[in-house]
Amino acid sequence: MVVAVRLSLLGRLARAALVAVLAAATMSACGGGDSAFTADPNEPETPGQPDAGVPDEPPTIDVEQPPPRLLSELNLLAWDRESEVVVYNDLAVPYELNTPLFSDYTAKSRAIFMPAGSSAAYDPNGVLDFPVGTVIVKTFIFADDLRTPDRDRTIIETRLLRRASSGWEAWPYIWNEDQTDADLKVGGKTLEVSFIDARGEPRTASYLVPQRNQCAKCHDRNVGPDQARILTPIGPEARHLNRDQAFADGVHNQLQYLADRGQLTGLPPLDEVPAAYDFRPVEQGGVDVVPDAELDRAARDYLDINCAYCHDPFGTNGVTSQLFLNHDSDDLFRLGVCKRPGSAGEGNGGLTYNIVPGDPDNSIMVFRVETVENGAIMPVLGRSIRHDVGAALVRRWVAAMDPVDCD
Ligand code: HEC
Ligand code: HEC
Repeated sequence: MVVAVRLSLLGRLARAALVAVLAAATMSACGGGDSAFTADPNEPETPGQPDAGVPDEPPTIDVEQPPPRLLSELNLLAWDRESEVVVYNDLAVPYELNTPLFSDYTAKSRAIFMPAGSSAAYDPNGVLDFPVGTVIVKTFIFADDLRTPDRDRTIIETRLLRRASSGWEAWPYIWNEDQTDADLKVGGKTLEVSFIDARGEPRTASYLVPQRNQCAKCHDRNVGPDQARILTPIGPEARHLNRDQAFADGVHNQLQYLADRGQLTGLPPLDEVPAAYDFRPVEQGGVDVVPDAELDRAARDYLDINCAYCHDPFGTNGVTSQLFLNHDSDDLFRLGVCKRPGSAGEGNGGLTYNIVPGDPDNSIMVFRVETVENGAIMPVLGRSIRHDVGAALVRRWVAAMDPVDCD
């Protein structure tokens, strides 16, 4: 199914009007429209306006029961339609990753909730070991114009991972058109989304809202006994979380913040904790802001978060293709250098090797991150348009390698 979500001016007016009548929950597309539409999200809230936050009570989460039909029933997060941000229950901890996954230029908001009295255990190499009862949420938001990314935003979906005693489960919630709540929906869809990119160019993405059984395509790892496939979180590794972030009470390192709340045990001094490359300056300033000395690390961390959940020794596709793009893979051949791909065909763009050092135009990897062609595009899921700066980074990384004659 293809649904257009580009908000017309009229749609936005209606949405703004809805904000104004949120408290009464009366849906009127005309009442109070003008004043609400001109409201500046940066202005302090008018006293007496309805608070679009989360009720001041603990989340109502029972991971052993089926999840509720409406996301609001968890009392974990809400969409503040006035300021167009996700707001969380005070007991949830919002987080960001040093290098995030690219998903067609959506903005993302993430948070972790652990039950009172429980904590995660530090792991220097993998995802933190979260306790039973943990819920991690990730919400996807489109902005109409990336030159003003904090305005005219539409909330699309909230993905939820929860740890029951039997293991992790994945649940997708899709936000309604009024942007008031999200429904549990196991069937996904493709949304044609038009927006203006950071350079002012119009772009259209065929954005994938995954169906529930697609969650496992990326979140499953062959790590169980007998290599059974087990669903796990991907992002919350110490090296991805090791960064400062503004919390309600000031700026803190995210790992330290969790530890100080008693929700992370075994955290060593921060200067001993690994950190992935901070991609934000690259996203904003372009690939040239990466110093030569940092190029390898920046590119490897980009490939790690964007590719390694499939392409590593624990990913089904990694095992099949024997292409290992995890940041700590030190086998250059398995990284793609002078490696012929397992499958021949259009996916290779007529080229022979995954990486020809010093020669990006003859490297399949560069071709596959630049293209949007079916059968060639990488990642195979979750991207429909080019990530300009990410593709430029991979190109610059390959170009900077000492030339090798693969033949
Ligand atoms: C195309 C691959 C892909 C698909 C499909 C996918 N995810 Fe993820 N997901 C990722 C990656 C990579 C991350 C970590 C990077 C990030 O947070 O940006 C992630 C992060 C998350 C997180 C935050 C915690 C974590 O694991 O890092 C949640 C929650 C989540 N996904 C839930 C889901 C659910 C539910 C579905 C199915 C509706 C789903 N995902 C489908 C790739 C995918
Ligand atoms: C959702 C899983 C998934 C993700 C994520 C993914 N790939 Fe792939 N990749 C595959 C599959 C499946 C194949 C084998 C089939 C094919 O070549 O199309 C493959 C094959 C490849 C190949 C050919 C490898 C060989 O030697 O046979 C390259 C190169 C490649 N991927 C690059 C990337 C890059 C770079 C990224 C990240 C930007 C990425 N892939 C992310 C699933 C994935």
